[in-house]
Amino acid sequence: MEIIASAPGKTILFGEHAVVYGEPAIAGAVNKRATIKLKESDKGVSIFKSDDLGFEAELNTRTKKYTLKKGRPGIINYILEILSKFHDHSPIEIDLSLDIPIGSGLGSSAAVTVATLAALFKYQKKEFNRSLLAKKAHEIESSVQGIASPLDTRVSTYGGLIYLSRDKKIAKFNTNLKSSFVIGYTSKRGNTGRMVKSVKALKTKYPDIVNPIIEAMGQITEEAKLAIVNKEEYKIGALMNINQGLLDSLGVNTNELSRMVYLARKAGATGSKITGAGGGGSIIACCPNTQDRVFKAINYHDHAIKVNFSKEGVFVK
Ligand code: PMV
Repeated sequence: MEIIASAPGKTILFGEHAVVYGEPAIAGAVNKRATIKLKESDKGVSIFKSDDLGFEAELNTRTKKYTLKKGRPGIINYILEILSKFHDHSPIEIDLSLDIPIGSGLGSSAAVTVATLAALFKYQKKEFNRSLLAKKAHEIESSVQGIASPLDTRVSTYGGLIYLSRDKKIAKFNTNLKSSFVIGYTSKRGNTGRMVKSVKALKTKYPDIVNPIIEAMGQITEEAKLAIVNKEEYKIGALMNINQGLLDSLGVNTNELSRMVYLARKAGATGSKITGAGGGGSIIACCPNTQDRVFKAINYHDHAIKVNFSKEGVFVK
């Protein structure tokens, strides 16, 4: 029996960094996914492989060690953690297809974790629901990374566009945001931990300046929430541009990110900003009617993907 499970990546539209200090955030599942095929292994040993990432590894699920057969392992620690915690160590084969770039702030590890857990629980004929999946996926991310915000695994499990309030409650937008978006990323990966630390250092050094910037970011997110509900695409773009200026002032911008931000605006985006931690990683541009032009402009030098917010969270069959 082969099980197939798939879960989406995510992007943060508003509120990165400010969310660390209790401000609200808006994030959404994107139409880029991790897909897992899971079946019994006929090789007497558990295998994790991915043609997309070009690797194959034999896993020891008891010791959490692996032997590489081909390529360089991506994302393997999440799989080992899942199998050592939730599997009876009988040999299985896990095949990963991934169209979310790794290390670009688009939640690839959360998507892989959620999809693998869903496939494994179904394989084991275990009863589960989304709430359990989101909880267990967050536990896995936390143990592999040391610290993880529950945002990525929640969005990947439930799908859709969500608003995270100041008191950490998650509300799904009912409005279907029709605007199309483009994400641009360079091969330079961002490092979330390092970026969060550098913003904290700036905040500690200049609290009277940085605290109001963080509060202003929270205010932008509140305005954006209304703009999304009212489907005001130009306002969403304008708010993204203001947010970008504030993220820049916190020191998380880079030359490459800035270049993509301005290219997107020149090609007709109503707004563009860093998405996620910055210092590398990705930008997002709001492009009602200009998605193709913005995609081409960014893709000329860097990498671009056309994204729409996807209602579909994890599914398994
Ligand atoms: O780049 P990402 O997807 O890891 O997003 C980081 C978002 C931050 O607000 C900077 C950190 C966090 O944990 O919320």
